[in-house]
Amino acid sequence: MKKRILSCVMAVFVYFSLMPFTVTESTENKTDNKISSQTKKPQVTDTQNNDSSVIDSSSELNIPEFSDSLKDKFSSFFKTGTCISASGIDTSAEFILKHFNSITPENELKPDYILNQQASELYGNNVNTQVVFNNNTRKILKFCEDNNIPLRGHTFVWHSQTPDWFFKENFRYDGADVTPDIMNQRLENFIKNTFELLAKDYPNLKIYAYDVCNELYENNGGGFRKPGSNNLEMGKSYWTKIYPDDSFVINAFTYARKYAPPECKLFLNDFNEYVPAKTKDIYDMAMKLKDLGLIDGIGMQSHLDTGYPDISTYKTALEKFMSSGLDVQITELDITCSDFSLQAKAFKDIFTLAAGNSENISSLTVWGTHDTVSWRNYANPLLFGENYSEKEAYKEVMSIKNTDLK
Ligand code: G3I
Repeated sequence: MKKRILSCVMAVFVYFSLMPFTVTESTENKTDNKISSQTKKPQVTDTQNNDSSVIDSSSELNIPEFSDSLKDKFSSFFKTGTCISASGIDTSAEFILKHFNSITPENELKPDYILNQQASELYGNNVNTQVVFNNNTRKILKFCEDNNIPLRGHTFVWHSQTPDWFFKENFRYDGADVTPDIMNQRLENFIKNTFELLAKDYPNLKIYAYDVCNELYENNGGGFRKPGSNNLEMGKSYWTKIYPDDSFVINAFTYARKYAPPECKLFLNDFNEYVPAKTKDIYDMAMKLKDLGLIDGIGMQSHLDTGYPDISTYKTALEKFMSSGLDVQITELDITCSDFSLQAKAFKDIFTLAAGNSENISSLTVWGTHDTVSWRNYANPLLFGENYSEKEAYKEVMSIKNTDLK
């Protein structure tokens, strides 16, 4: 009984805590310098299977019984990714290369990192959004390029981490809101200039997926986020303040299709995606985009807790998304817990489910290398703990056998 009450309390807590606007942590400051011996520049090894954005269906799907590398363990099923920050490269490079063959910059490709207010205003035509990569962004892109690790780009259209000036006349904070027509041009230039800069400065970087739109929907169904500035009222969206309809989503995917490299799959990404009403909102938009030939996949962020959701609720959403015929990627997996054994089981369930459906799931990304650097480090949500210690969750995942998939 006590356990059940605790579970319910956790579920409610998780449901609300999952809203990104509750984040107060700075991962930039959370470095772990205890493994300084691992800071030497890593080399790409022969075993690094980095070129598997499309899994070769002719190869036999097989989970090696013994492996000490996550990416190798699941290499015949999907890419195994992590998000990283620039400081994570200093502390964790060797560890990253051992376990992961996909990288998502945790913050460094988000609008507030790459949109440049001064340059956009100076450009002077009110529509040519200027994109600049700072040193942190460059460090991650270079690391991926040098080490031949495919990148998941994250993200263009998002209510959060997007400055208000982007939506205002002359790219100025004191400007009036622009019209949808002006915003369309800005959005197109934002996406165009980002992909052009990526191609120019990182010609050998492989960008295999991009979250074109992120977290569009309310948690309980009911469609898009309410109009407003997220910087003033958390959870609101400037996109829906400018646009009366879903054309910003259609246009974002249209521009991304036009400017992204051909091998880059375009994703609609969201969280609390297993809440049934939200599953429906995401699915319906994905199908609309699919009918237009503009989307390749649905991203399930998967910020979970051992108390909620259970694996069958998660599976229901996954199956709905797979029924779209689109690729599905698990894009930000972490599982908060107060019991490491329950966490281990939950991680094993998700990896087993993903491997069992790998014909529809091309990558699984955990949101962080180890607990110390997680945005939810207060509840130890990752596979590795302090000093990269192998947690029970990691061991359970690494113990998955082929027979578990049936
Ligand atoms: O860059 C500034 C730095 O200049 C400043 O000194 C410092 C002071 O706190 O803040 C730094 O920005 C922080 C940023 O991370 C970079 O470290 C922000 O405060 C902090 O809020 C931000 O948190 C990120 C969060 O998104 C913000 O939305 C987390 O690291 C990141 O893990 C998280 O990632 C999101 C995904 O993009 C989308 N899905 C949900 C997920 C978790 O919220």
